[in-house]
Amino acid sequence: MRDQHVATVDVAEAFLSGSMEYKFFLDKVKYSLDVHFVLEDEVLIPTFRPILRKFLEFEEPPRIIVGEHNSIRSSYRSVANPVVFETDEAIRSTEEEIIGKCGTMAKTLLQHVYKEENGLFSLIELYMPDDLKDDVSKKIKEKLPVLEAAHRNAMK
Ligand SMILES: [Fe+2]
Ligand SMILES: [Fe+2]
Repeated sequence: MRDQHVATVDVAEAFLSGSMEYKFFLDKVKYSLDVHFVLEDEVLIPTFRPILRKFLEFEEPPRIIVGEHNSIRSSYRSVANPVVFETDEAIRSTEEEIIGKCGTMAKTLLQHVYKEENGLFSLIELYMPDDLKDDVSKKIKEKLPVLEAAHRNAMK
């Protein structure tokens, strides 16, 4: 999971520095939505939430993380769906808007990864028992190729 964070940070920074085309950036974001977010939402967070509740009696971090996943998903949808922009003036400004929205998305992703690395993931390191960690990483390994295959299909 942390390897994927490094990759996400690289992609977001490349886009923000202007060295990556927005279409390519959007494809990379789609991978995060289809694969990485799902692993966190469906494996990592459900396993971790009760532990957090037990030890710390709060569950704010997972709620924030899941909320951010949903808002990044909806900004992706709003950007990726109007894919029709050709040469005419009115539509060209739409392309500019899309690039602007991609910039916002890249910044949100950077903050999101930062929050996970310094919040949720460090809490997991501290509080999740080793057998559960092993269990989670096993489930992630099983689910990863399935999600990646579905992602590749969706991109065709
Ligand atoms: Fe996440
Ligand atoms: Fe993440």
